[in-house]
Amino acid sequence: MISHKIRFLLFFALIWNISCQDDQDRSDFGLTYPDYFPAPHYQFGKNTLTREGFELGRALFFDPILSVDSTISCASCHSQGHAFADHNTALSSGIFAKTGNRNSPAMFNLAWHPVFMWDGGINHIEVMPLAPITNDVEMGEDMLRVVAKLKKHSNYTKRFNKVFGEKPIESQQIFYALAQYMSMLVSADSKYDRYRQGKESLTSDEQDGLQIFRNKCAACHTEPLFSDFSLRNNGLEILNDDLGFGRITLEEGDIYKFKVPSLRNVVLTYPYMHDGRFRTLDQVLDHYSRGMIHHKNLDPLLMTNGQPGIPLTDIDKVKLKAFLNTLSDFAFISNPLFSK
Ligand code: HEC
Ligand code: HEC
Repeated sequence: MISHKIRFLLFFALIWNISCQDDQDRSDFGLTYPDYFPAPHYQFGKNTLTREGFELGRALFFDPILSVDSTISCASCHSQGHAFADHNTALSSGIFAKTGNRNSPAMFNLAWHPVFMWDGGINHIEVMPLAPITNDVEMGEDMLRVVAKLKKHSNYTKRFNKVFGEKPIESQQIFYALAQYMSMLVSADSKYDRYRQGKESLTSDEQDGLQIFRNKCAACHTEPLFSDFSLRNNGLEILNDDLGFGRITLEEGDIYKFKVPSLRNVVLTYPYMHDGRFRTLDQVLDHYSRGMIHHKNLDPLLMTNGQPGIPLTDIDKVKLKAFLNTLSDFAFISNPLFSK
């Protein structure tokens, strides 16, 4: 028979164990990803990742307080159900229903991106939020006013103090918290991932599609992130005066180059390209096979026998689409950790 004393000790040990586990869960909070992913580009540096910091970033991401008239949040244009691209619109509306000239990109695996924006104009995830907050067609606000508005909410003051220590809220803390939230948006649970992990097999069409993809697309949309994050021209017809990368470098050789987007979740992130000009993947594949123009900065990888374009038969297209379908991560778009 177990004596009372021992029973008490056992009970105590159990409680101790549970509380230790809880501590462990907390310290375990971190960026996790499959072993076939490269090391992330963003290493957090002085911005120590914590659950509270991440949750504060999440609260800010969904809060329209960051915009001048408190109507637009980051999530207004970056919707989880679409892998954080916009809800089926080519050009998102910001404050006062204004629109810019570019399509809202999806947001996931951002800790691996060396540059941001379609023109690669931003090179650090911690300064990324400044652009939409201060852009006059997106949120139209200035950082001093955002800080002043947040300070009026005792709940925010408490949460900032908990993450960053007892000092007044400042812009840098807002950027840090948002960087924590954005970096944690890892999408790595698609059928393709389960295939890579040996947990699921691909159908023969999907398998053929993967081969075609590796031959014709993967040089730029490189596995496993499905982008090499370089800036390139893929032969789109020129419809407006958006110079892309050329706007940043002012070099002739960079005009009309845009950042290669990841194709993970691509079925969910329509419409496509920097200006959202294509509504369907069929239109995208028609572009690659017969719609390309011979721009002087067209990427040489997209030339076949001196002509712009990648030959694709109708059957190739069906198989490619079957493969692209395996890149959807339904666990990611419904993960409550990332939701409001
Ligand atoms: C009015 C719509 C709108 C709002 C609000 C908005 N964004 Fe964006 N976001 C965009 C558009 C459009 C782009 C592409 C801009 C460009 O390339 O010039 C973009 C680009 C980005 C990117 C770059 C992604 C990549 O792959 O390069 C990130 C990250 C991002 N936004 C995060 C945020 C955050 C964080 C907020 C809130 C502070 C926010 N956005 C608010 C529309 C919006
Ligand atoms: C030479 C590099 C290169 C190759 C090869 C390439 N792409 Fe792209 N792709 C790009 C660039 C750059 C963009 C963005 C262009 C823009 O918006 O101006 C893009 C955009 C896309 C988009 C739009 C995604 C979005 O979120 O808007 C899809 C879909 C796509 N490519 C599919 C493919 C497929 C399928 C293949 C193979 C048949 C392929 N690409 C081959 C460079 C490439």
